[in-house]
Amino acid sequence: MKKKETEKLLRELTDVCAPTGFEGPVRAIVNQHLYPLCQDISVDGIGSLIAQFNTRHDSKPNVMVAAHMDEVGLMVKYITEDGYLKFQTIGGWLDQALINQRWIIRTKKGLVKGITGIKTPHVIPAETRGQIFKKEQMFIDVGASNKEDAVNRLGISPGDPIAPDSLFTNLNGGSLYLGKAWDDRIGLAVMIQVASNLRGADISNNLYLVSTVQEEVGLRGAQTSSYLVEPDIGINLESGVAGDYPGSTLDESQEKLGEGPAIFLHDSSMIPNLKLRDFVLKVADEEKIPIQFDVLSGYGQDGAEIQRARGGSPSINIAIPTRYLHSHNGVISIEDFDNAVKLVTSLIQRLDADTVREIRKFELE
Ligand code: CO
Repeated sequence: MKKKETEKLLRELTDVCAPTGFEGPVRAIVNQHLYPLCQDISVDGIGSLIAQFNTRHDSKPNVMVAAHMDEVGLMVKYITEDGYLKFQTIGGWLDQALINQRWIIRTKKGLVKGITGIKTPHVIPAETRGQIFKKEQMFIDVGASNKEDAVNRLGISPGDPIAPDSLFTNLNGGSLYLGKAWDDRIGLAVMIQVASNLRGADISNNLYLVSTVQEEVGLRGAQTSSYLVEPDIGINLESGVAGDYPGSTLDESQEKLGEGPAIFLHDSSMIPNLKLRDFVLKVADEEKIPIQFDVLSGYGQDGAEIQRARGGSPSINIAIPTRYLHSHNGVISIEDFDNAVKLVTSLIQRLDADTVREIRKFELE
Protein backbone atom coordinates (compact mmCIF):
# COMPACT_ATOMS: atom_id res chain seq x y z
CA MET A 1 0.00 0.00 0.00
CA LYS A 2 1.33 3.42 -0.85
CA LYS A 3 1.97 5.79 2.05
CA LYS A 4 -0.90 8.08 1.05
CA GLU A 5 -3.38 5.19 0.98
CA THR A 6 -2.14 3.93 4.35
CA GLU A 7 -2.57 7.41 5.81
CA LYS A 8 -6.09 7.59 4.40
CA LEU A 9 -7.02 4.25 5.97
CA LEU A 10 -5.51 5.15 9.35
CA ARG A 11 -7.26 8.52 9.36
CA GLU A 12 -10.58 6.95 8.46
CA LEU A 13 -10.33 4.35 11.22
CA THR A 14 -9.02 6.55 14.04
CA ASP A 15 -11.01 9.77 13.59
CA VAL A 16 -14.38 8.08 13.98
CA CYS A 17 -16.22 8.21 17.35
CA ALA A 18 -16.90 4.59 18.36
CA PRO A 19 -16.35 3.63 21.99
CA THR A 20 -17.09 0.19 23.39
CA GLY A 21 -20.68 -0.83 22.71
CA PHE A 22 -21.01 1.80 19.96
CA GLU A 23 -18.79 0.26 17.28
CA GLY A 24 -21.27 0.77 14.42
CA PRO A 25 -19.33 3.40 12.44
CA VAL A 26 -16.13 1.31 12.55
CA ARG A 27 -18.02 -1.83 11.56
CA ALA A 28 -19.30 0.03 8.50
CA ILE A 29 -15.79 1.17 7.52
CA VAL A 30 -14.27 -2.30 7.95
CA ASN A 31 -17.15 -3.86 6.01
CA GLN A 32 -16.66 -1.39 3.19
CA HIS A 33 -12.99 -2.38 2.89
CA LEU A 34 -13.39 -6.14 3.36
CA TYR A 35 -16.61 -6.72 1.41
CA PRO A 36 -14.93 -6.62 -2.03
CA LEU A 37 -12.13 -8.90 -0.80
CA CYS A 38 -14.07 -11.61 1.04
CA GLN A 39 -16.42 -14.48 0.17
CA ASP A 40 -18.86 -13.87 2.97
CA ILE A 41 -19.40 -11.36 5.75
CA SER A 42 -21.67 -11.81 8.74
CA VAL A 43 -22.22 -10.19 12.11
CA ASP A 44 -22.55 -12.23 15.29
CA GLY A 45 -25.17 -11.73 17.98
CA ILE A 46 -23.34 -8.92 19.78
CA GLY A 47 -21.90 -7.11 16.78
CA SER A 48 -18.53 -8.60 15.86
CA LEU A 49 -17.93 -8.65 12.10
CA ILE A 50 -16.82 -12.05 10.79
CA ALA A 51 -15.34 -11.88 7.29
CA GLN A 52 -14.71 -15.23 5.63
CA PHE A 53 -11.88 -14.49 3.22
CA ASN A 54 -12.00 -17.58 1.01
CA THR A 55 -14.26 -20.55 0.33
CA ARG A 56 -14.24 -22.90 3.30
CA HIS A 57 -12.93 -26.43 2.80
CA ASP A 58 -13.13 -29.01 5.57
CA SER A 59 -9.65 -30.24 4.68
CA LYS A 60 -8.16 -26.85 5.51
CA PRO A 61 -7.47 -25.48 9.01
CA ASN A 62 -9.40 -22.44 10.25
CA VAL A 63 -7.19 -19.46 10.93
CA MET A 64 -8.77 -16.63 12.88
CA VAL A 65 -7.16 -13.20 12.69
CA ALA A 66 -8.77 -10.71 15.08
CA ALA A 67 -8.62 -7.05 16.03
CA HIS A 68 -11.07 -5.04 18.11
CA MET A 69 -13.21 -2.17 16.85
CA ASP A 70 -13.99 -0.41 20.11
CA GLU A 71 -12.00 2.36 21.77
CA VAL A 72 -11.97 3.57 25.36
CA GLY A 73 -14.43 6.41 25.88
CA LEU A 74 -17.17 7.76 28.10
CA MET A 75 -20.95 7.56 28.29
CA VAL A 76 -23.40 10.29 29.29
CA LYS A 77 -24.70 9.38 32.75
CA TYR A 78 -27.03 12.30 33.29
CA ILE A 79 -27.43 16.00 32.50
CA THR A 80 -27.39 18.46 35.37
CA GLU A 81 -30.15 21.07 35.68
CA ASP A 82 -27.72 23.74 34.48
CA GLY A 83 -26.77 21.74 31.36
CA TYR A 84 -23.50 20.00 32.22
CA LEU A 85 -22.94 16.29 31.48
CA LYS A 86 -21.85 13.81 34.11
CA PHE A 87 -20.29 10.68 32.67
CA GLN A 88 -19.39 7.03 33.11
CA THR A 89 -15.95 5.94 31.88
CA ILE A 90 -15.85 3.01 29.44
CA GLY A 91 -12.60 1.05 29.57
CA GLY A 92 -9.44 1.89 31.48
CA TRP A 93 -8.68 5.61 31.93
CA LEU A 94 -6.33 7.49 34.21
CA ASP A 95 -8.34 10.23 35.90
CA GLN A 96 -5.65 12.75 34.96
CA ALA A 97 -6.03 11.90 31.25
CA LEU A 98 -9.69 12.98 31.36
CA ILE A 99 -9.48 16.51 32.62
CA ASN A 100 -9.48 19.63 30.41
CA GLN A 101 -9.79 17.67 27.17
CA ARG A 102 -11.97 18.05 24.10
CA TRP A 103 -14.58 15.37 23.47
CA ILE A 104 -17.12 14.36 20.82
CA ILE A 105 -20.55 13.17 21.92
CA ARG A 106 -22.58 11.14 19.42
CA THR A 107 -26.20 12.18 19.90
CA LYS A 108 -29.39 11.45 17.99
CA LYS A 109 -28.94 14.83 16.32
CA GLY A 110 -25.33 14.26 15.33
CA LEU A 111 -21.90 15.03 16.78
CA VAL A 112 -21.60 17.52 19.62
CA LYS A 113 -18.38 19.00 21.01
CA GLY A 114 -17.63 19.27 24.70
CA ILE A 115 -14.81 19.81 27.17
CA THR A 116 -14.04 18.47 30.62
CA GLY A 117 -13.72 21.75 32.48
CA ILE A 118 -11.02 22.34 35.05
CA LYS A 119 -10.83 24.86 37.89
CA THR A 120 -8.33 27.65 37.47
CA PRO A 121 -5.29 27.69 39.80
CA HIS A 122 -6.40 31.16 40.89
CA VAL A 123 -9.02 29.63 43.12
CA ILE A 124 -7.08 26.58 44.33
CA PRO A 125 -5.07 26.95 47.55
CA ALA A 126 -1.31 26.54 46.93
CA GLU A 127 -1.09 23.43 49.12
CA THR A 128 -3.67 21.47 47.08
CA ARG A 129 -2.56 22.46 43.56
CA GLY A 130 -0.57 19.23 43.18
CA GLN A 131 -3.62 17.06 43.78
CA ILE A 132 -5.16 15.08 40.94
CA PHE A 133 -8.79 15.74 40.05
CA LYS A 134 -10.93 12.63 40.46
CA LYS A 135 -13.24 11.61 37.63
CA GLU A 136 -16.26 11.77 39.93
CA GLN A 137 -15.68 15.54 40.26
CA MET A 138 -15.57 16.05 36.50
CA PHE A 139 -18.25 17.17 34.07
CA ILE A 140 -18.49 17.97 30.38
CA ASP A 141 -19.35 21.49 29.28
CA VAL A 142 -21.23 21.49 25.95
CA GLY A 143 -22.11 25.15 26.06
CA ALA A 144 -25.75 24.44 26.86
CA SER A 145 -27.67 27.09 28.78
CA ASN A 146 -29.52 24.47 30.82
CA LYS A 147 -30.70 20.85 30.78
CA GLU A 148 -33.53 21.55 28.36
CA ASP A 149 -31.12 23.20 25.92
CA ALA A 150 -28.76 20.19 26.08
CA VAL A 151 -31.66 17.78 25.51
CA ASN A 152 -33.75 19.64 22.95
CA ARG A 153 -31.27 21.68 20.96
CA LEU A 154 -28.23 19.37 21.10
CA GLY A 155 -30.12 16.08 21.31
CA ILE A 156 -28.09 14.71 24.22
CA SER A 157 -29.49 11.72 26.11
CA PRO A 158 -28.22 9.51 28.90
CA GLY A 159 -26.32 6.61 27.30
CA ASP A 160 -24.84 8.63 24.44
CA PRO A 161 -21.23 7.61 23.65
CA ILE A 162 -18.34 10.05 24.04
CA ALA A 163 -14.89 9.76 22.46
CA PRO A 164 -11.77 11.95 22.50
CA ASP A 165 -11.79 14.80 20.01
CA SER A 166 -8.34 14.53 18.47
CA LEU A 167 -7.64 14.11 14.81
CA PHE A 168 -5.11 11.94 13.04
CA THR A 169 -1.94 13.64 11.88
CA ASN A 170 1.64 12.94 10.90
CA LEU A 171 4.03 13.92 13.69
CA ASN A 172 6.31 16.50 12.10
CA GLY A 173 7.24 14.81 8.86
CA GLY A 174 8.84 11.58 10.08
CA SER A 175 7.46 8.04 10.23
CA LEU A 176 5.44 8.62 13.42
CA TYR A 177 1.69 9.26 13.48
CA LEU A 178 -0.43 10.87 16.14
CA GLY A 179 -4.04 9.97 16.81
CA LYS A 180 -6.53 8.55 19.25
CA ALA A 181 -7.85 4.97 19.28
CA TRP A 182 -4.77 3.24 17.88
CA ASP A 183 -6.01 0.67 20.38
CA ASP A 184 -7.11 -1.10 18.31
CA ARG A 185 -7.82 0.59 15.00
CA ILE A 186 -4.17 -0.06 14.12
CA GLY A 187 -4.93 -3.80 14.39
CA LEU A 188 -7.91 -3.38 12.06
CA ALA A 189 -5.74 -1.46 9.59
CA VAL A 190 -3.21 -4.32 9.57
CA MET A 191 -6.04 -6.79 8.97
CA ILE A 192 -7.48 -4.80 6.07
CA GLN A 193 -4.07 -4.40 4.50
CA VAL A 194 -3.32 -8.13 4.85
CA ALA A 195 -6.62 -8.94 3.10
CA SER A 196 -5.71 -6.55 0.33
CA ASN A 197 -2.25 -8.15 -0.05
CA LEU A 198 -3.85 -11.59 -0.31
CA ARG A 199 -6.45 -10.57 -2.90
CA GLY A 200 -6.79 -13.39 -5.41
CA ALA A 201 -4.18 -15.56 -3.66
CA ASP A 202 -4.77 -19.27 -3.25
CA ILE A 203 -4.25 -19.81 0.47
CA SER A 204 -4.09 -23.16 2.24
CA ASN A 205 -6.32 -22.33 5.18
CA ASN A 206 -9.85 -21.06 5.80
CA LEU A 207 -9.09 -17.47 6.73
CA TYR A 208 -11.45 -15.56 9.02
CA LEU A 209 -10.87 -11.86 9.58
CA VAL A 210 -12.78 -10.94 12.70
CA SER A 211 -13.39 -7.40 13.95
CA THR A 212 -14.55 -7.75 17.52
CA VAL A 213 -16.70 -5.57 19.77
CA GLN A 214 -16.35 -4.74 23.46
CA GLU A 215 -12.74 -5.78 24.00
CA GLU A 216 -12.07 -2.96 26.44
CA VAL A 217 -14.63 -4.18 28.94
CA GLY A 218 -13.67 -7.86 29.02
CA LEU A 219 -12.95 -9.38 25.58
CA ARG A 220 -16.64 -9.96 24.99
CA GLY A 221 -16.80 -9.92 21.19
CA ALA A 222 -13.84 -12.27 20.86
CA GLN A 223 -15.66 -14.81 23.01
CA THR A 224 -18.80 -14.98 20.85
CA SER A 225 -17.05 -14.72 17.48
CA SER A 226 -14.44 -17.39 18.19
CA TYR A 227 -17.24 -19.77 19.20
CA LEU A 228 -18.68 -19.34 15.70
CA VAL A 229 -15.40 -19.43 13.79
CA GLU A 230 -14.05 -22.58 15.49
CA PRO A 231 -10.42 -21.54 15.05
CA ASP A 232 -7.54 -24.02 14.75
CA ILE A 233 -5.08 -21.13 15.07
CA GLY A 234 -5.61 -17.65 16.52
CA ILE A 235 -3.66 -14.52 15.60
CA ASN A 236 -4.69 -11.43 17.51
CA LEU A 237 -3.59 -7.99 16.38
CA GLU A 238 -3.26 -5.29 19.00
CA SER A 239 -1.64 -2.05 19.96
CA GLY A 240 1.43 -2.76 22.04
CA VAL A 241 2.86 -0.84 24.97
CA ALA A 242 5.83 1.26 23.91
CA GLY A 243 8.07 2.19 26.82
CA ASP A 244 10.56 4.39 24.99
CA TYR A 245 9.90 7.75 26.60
CA PRO A 246 11.20 9.56 29.69
CA GLY A 247 10.16 7.97 32.95
CA SER A 248 9.09 4.65 31.43
CA THR A 249 11.12 1.62 32.53
CA LEU A 250 12.06 -1.70 30.96
CA ASP A 251 10.33 -3.38 33.88
CA GLU A 252 7.07 -1.82 32.75
CA SER A 253 7.41 -2.64 29.04
CA GLN A 254 10.16 -3.45 26.59
CA GLU A 255 8.79 -2.19 23.26
CA LYS A 256 10.23 0.69 21.27
CA LEU A 257 8.70 2.45 18.30
CA GLY A 258 10.31 1.54 14.99
CA GLU A 259 11.85 -1.76 16.13
CA GLY A 260 9.17 -3.98 14.62
CA PRO A 261 5.97 -5.70 15.69
CA ALA A 262 5.99 -7.06 19.24
CA ILE A 263 5.18 -10.58 20.35
CA PHE A 264 3.56 -10.66 23.79
CA LEU A 265 5.28 -13.46 25.71
CA HIS A 266 3.15 -12.79 28.76
CA ASP A 267 0.24 -10.57 29.69
CA SER A 268 -2.37 -10.96 32.38
CA SER A 269 -4.77 -12.78 30.02
CA MET A 270 -2.60 -15.13 27.96
CA ILE A 271 0.67 -16.96 27.40
CA PRO A 272 1.10 -17.75 23.69
CA ASN A 273 1.33 -21.27 22.33
CA LEU A 274 5.05 -22.09 22.23
CA LYS A 275 5.12 -23.79 18.83
CA LEU A 276 3.11 -20.98 17.26
CA ARG A 277 5.46 -18.46 18.87
CA ASP A 278 8.48 -20.25 17.40
CA PHE A 279 6.78 -20.52 14.00
CA VAL A 280 6.18 -16.75 14.00
CA LEU A 281 9.83 -16.13 14.91
CA LYS A 282 11.03 -18.47 12.14
CA VAL A 283 8.88 -16.74 9.52
CA ALA A 284 10.01 -13.29 10.71
CA ASP A 285 13.63 -14.41 10.49
CA GLU A 286 13.18 -15.80 6.96
CA GLU A 287 11.42 -12.65 5.81
CA LYS A 288 13.95 -10.41 7.60
CA ILE A 289 11.22 -8.73 9.63
CA PRO A 290 12.41 -7.19 12.92
CA ILE A 291 10.57 -8.51 15.97
CA GLN A 292 10.57 -7.42 19.57
CA PHE A 293 9.19 -9.07 22.68
CA ASP A 294 7.12 -7.75 25.50
CA VAL A 295 6.50 -9.30 28.90
CA LEU A 296 3.73 -7.35 30.59
CA SER A 297 2.27 -7.93 34.02
CA GLY A 298 -1.05 -6.24 33.19
CA TYR A 299 -2.99 -6.03 29.88
CA GLY A 300 -5.70 -8.34 28.59
CA GLN A 301 -6.38 -8.99 24.91
CA ASP A 302 -8.75 -10.88 22.62
CA GLY A 303 -6.20 -13.63 21.90
CA ALA A 304 -7.06 -15.03 25.33
CA GLU A 305 -10.64 -15.72 24.27
CA ILE A 306 -9.58 -17.24 20.96
CA GLN A 307 -7.10 -19.43 22.81
CA ARG A 308 -9.74 -20.94 25.07
CA ALA A 309 -12.71 -21.05 22.71
CA ARG A 310 -14.29 -24.50 22.47
CA GLY A 311 -11.47 -27.04 22.98
CA GLY A 312 -8.70 -24.43 22.84
CA SER A 313 -6.41 -23.36 20.03
CA PRO A 314 -2.81 -22.17 19.68
CA SER A 315 -2.91 -18.38 19.74
CA ILE A 316 -0.53 -15.46 19.71
CA ASN A 317 -0.78 -11.71 20.14
CA ILE A 318 1.11 -9.53 17.66
CA ALA A 319 1.24 -5.86 18.61
CA ILE A 320 2.16 -2.58 16.98
CA PRO A 321 4.08 -0.58 19.60
CA THR A 322 2.06 2.45 20.71
CA ARG A 323 2.91 5.32 23.03
CA TYR A 324 0.33 6.79 25.42
CA LEU A 325 -2.45 4.20 25.03
CA HIS A 326 -5.91 4.99 26.41
CA SER A 327 -5.58 8.74 26.05
CA HIS A 328 -6.35 11.50 23.53
CA ASN A 329 -2.99 11.23 21.79
CA GLY A 330 -1.26 7.97 20.91
CA VAL A 331 1.79 7.62 18.67
CA ILE A 332 2.71 4.76 16.31
CA SER A 333 5.39 4.19 13.66
CA ILE A 334 4.35 3.46 10.09
CA GLU A 335 7.40 1.19 9.79
CA ASP A 336 6.06 -1.06 12.53
CA PHE A 337 2.70 -1.09 10.77
CA ASP A 338 4.28 -2.11 7.45
CA ASN A 339 6.35 -4.82 9.13
CA ALA A 340 3.29 -6.19 10.95
CA VAL A 341 1.39 -6.36 7.65
CA LYS A 342 4.30 -8.19 6.04
CA LEU A 343 4.59 -10.62 8.94
CA VAL A 344 0.88 -11.48 9.15
CA THR A 345 0.65 -11.86 5.36
CA SER A 346 3.59 -14.28 5.42
CA LEU A 347 2.10 -16.25 8.31
CA ILE A 348 -1.23 -16.70 6.52
CA GLN A 349 0.53 -17.87 3.36
CA ARG A 350 2.35 -20.59 5.29
CA LEU A 351 -0.32 -21.91 7.63
CA ASP A 352 -1.30 -25.00 5.64
CA ALA A 353 -2.82 -28.21 7.05
CA ASP A 354 0.53 -29.89 7.78
CA THR A 355 1.98 -26.82 9.49
CA VAL A 356 -1.12 -26.30 11.62
CA ARG A 357 -1.25 -29.99 12.56
CA GLU A 358 2.36 -29.80 13.70
CA ILE A 359 1.78 -26.61 15.70
CA ARG A 360 -1.31 -28.09 17.38
CA LYS A 361 0.46 -31.30 18.41
CA PHE A 362 1.67 -31.57 22.01
CA GLU A 363 4.53 -34.04 22.50
CA LEU A 364 3.71 -36.77 24.98
CA GLU A 365 7.22 -37.99 25.68
CO1 CO B 1 -6.67 -3.13 22.67
